[in-house]
Amino acid sequence: MTATHPVTRSPYLSGNYAPTPDERQLELTVVAGKIPADLRGVFVRNGSNPRFEPEGRYHWFDGDGMIHAVHFNAEGAHYRNRWVVTAGFEAETEAGTALWRGILEPPDLSKFPQVFKDTANTDLVWFNGELLALWWLGGDAYRISLPDLETLGTETFAGTLTSHIAAHPKVDPSTGELLFIDFDPIPPYLTFGVVSAEGQVVRSENVALDGPRLQHDLAFTDDYAIVFDFPFMWETDASSTRLGFHRDRPSRFGLVPRCGTATETTWFETDPCFMYHVANAWQEDGTVRMVGCEISDPLVDDRDSPADRRTVPEIAMLRLEPYLTEWVFHLDSGTITKRRLNDEIAEFPKIDVRRTGRPSRYTYLMRFAQLETLAFDAVIRHDLTTATAITHPWPDGWYGGETVFCPKQGTTAEDDGYLVTFVVHEETGQSEVHVLDAARLGDEAVCRLSVPVRVPTGYHTWWVPQAELDAQR
Ligand SMILES: [Fe+2]
Repeated sequence: MTATHPVTRSPYLSGNYAPTPDERQLELTVVAGKIPADLRGVFVRNGSNPRFEPEGRYHWFDGDGMIHAVHFNAEGAHYRNRWVVTAGFEAETEAGTALWRGILEPPDLSKFPQVFKDTANTDLVWFNGELLALWWLGGDAYRISLPDLETLGTETFAGTLTSHIAAHPKVDPSTGELLFIDFDPIPPYLTFGVVSAEGQVVRSENVALDGPRLQHDLAFTDDYAIVFDFPFMWETDASSTRLGFHRDRPSRFGLVPRCGTATETTWFETDPCFMYHVANAWQEDGTVRMVGCEISDPLVDDRDSPADRRTVPEIAMLRLEPYLTEWVFHLDSGTITKRRLNDEIAEFPKIDVRRTGRPSRYTYLMRFAQLETLAFDAVIRHDLTTATAITHPWPDGWYGGETVFCPKQGTTAEDDGYLVTFVVHEETGQSEVHVLDAARLGDEAVCRLSVPVRVPTGYHTWWVPQAELDAQR
């Protein structure tokens, strides 16, 4: 499957953001170190890769989903990349051209309810024996087979799903459940749902908000799901889609009881902010602790713009200033304590997902490089227990993607594993896979593998251990 891409004006269509027109299956070559014998499974990464020349202004979030995967097994490391074949992708393939405009263009309401193309380009999650590809604005969950990355269709959970699913659903390793949200610019603005470990939606409820919000993540603990009401609001009409940040309104964090209903949600209020990604949350000594990347003002350079000109320049260019932050919700008093944990501008937090919803010590963060476009020049391991961090910079001129924590086979300790990611040279597009020892960050890579093709910059990652791959449905 191939396509062509003329050079266009968006920086997110050039350099290492330029989409690849090719789907490839290639063997990787070790260029340093060796592939650890206890690293067995598939590393997958989703991202935006428009097949056709975009109509109008392009935003990085608009492109068709493409998954890049590396399967580590006894024979070596095997690379594959493939588009997620969504309904929108199929329609555009049949038409031979782009049919949807992106989020920087006025919304085409004639396409309602799919005003923007559901690209499934954002996130990946392994749940109940299958890999699902998800979209940031809430869409279908596309089933992806491993390691060949074939799109198998949409997951309806045996017909029980009554909403869409947004990116970043969370698997509870204790119960095997999948917790998810869906959100819309029209009521109901926010839906919270739970899929049982057996794969049936057992809960789908509206969480009361007084208007549409940009949502991107959720968190959970043993007793609560945590949902967000940030004052970062959709202002969509027939002529534009805008996001307005209302600095005069608080951020609200909703603790939805996992045994109960959304009408029993307890809300905690604090300073206005926004957050794309949560690292983790858990209960401890009468509190709920949540760690995530706070953005104190997502439209910081837009502060003096008149209300009708809030056209989200920072969202367009992703010049954000997120900091790893801890919120402590005091259940008795209904108050919040907040503190910044790390002074680096960093995002894309990842943890050992076996500890999701329970105490975790380490968060892996990607540090922002000082570039016009979003790029990561280092991975940081933040240690919550000692309040210290280790920084592992990528080599000069190289930028890494989101790392994923891969436990060593047969181990359970929180940092006894590897961090794996794609690392790409800014000028040449030369691409590698780096395998780092999570407990010895800062040391030389355990292994570096050369990818014979350029791997465009992308979004979120997942690790599917070989044992789970062997049990794939
Ligand atoms: Fe995300």
